[in-house]
Amino acid sequence: MSDKINSPRPGFDRRAFLTGAAGTAVAIPLTARAANEPSQAAVAQDPAAPVQVTLRINGESRTLALDARTTVLDALREHAGLTGSKKGCDHGQCGACTVLLDGQRVLSCLTLALAAEGREITTIEGLAAGGKLHPMQQAFIDQDAFQCGYCTPGQIMSAIACVHEGHADSDDNIREYMSGNICRCAAYPNIVAAVKQAAPEILKG
Ligand code: FES
Ligand code: FES
Repeated sequence: MSDKINSPRPGFDRRAFLTGAAGTAVAIPLTARAANEPSQAAVAQDPAAPVQVTLRINGESRTLALDARTTVLDALREHAGLTGSKKGCDHGQCGACTVLLDGQRVLSCLTLALAAEGREITTIEGLAAGGKLHPMQQAFIDQDAFQCGYCTPGQIMSAIACVHEGHADSDDNIREYMSGNICRCAAYPNIVAAVKQAAPEILKG
């Protein structure tokens, strides 16, 4: 069969084209190797190569050298020294890692640090101000809303967002909108009571 059959345009010679393309493909790496430098493509494809990321965490800018695949949770815990946000499952199932991103709750184990650049991250460490606990922190203490406490930072961050979202207006809504946060020791009734206690104070600002 002729190479010119089904050519995209008259005069196009597929064999000549492929021969030329192969020659070009070989020439580029040879040139790069001759210069004894890694190609840009090779550098860009190394996901472990650190990249500089500047994160706003609790009102402060932090510049961190991170693997581009680092999650917000690992950036906080392993690089910024903020271990308040907990790693329960690392799979988006438990809510222990919940933080606020521009005031909205997110699962930090599923959020890439690169995607959070330029946005305001609030963690449990950023809630107390002037030596005074945030109303939701105080309510969790007052209502005895935790036992082991491992899920508590995520519960509190989620509860604050729940109030701001307008979902703390009934026990059923609180239960529904807090259902992404698992407490293995089942302090749920006390958590609902804590959200109800703190909501009015949070909403009045
Ligand atoms: Fe993120 Fe469990 S650690 S949802
Ligand atoms: Fe222990 Fe929630 S207080 S899992």
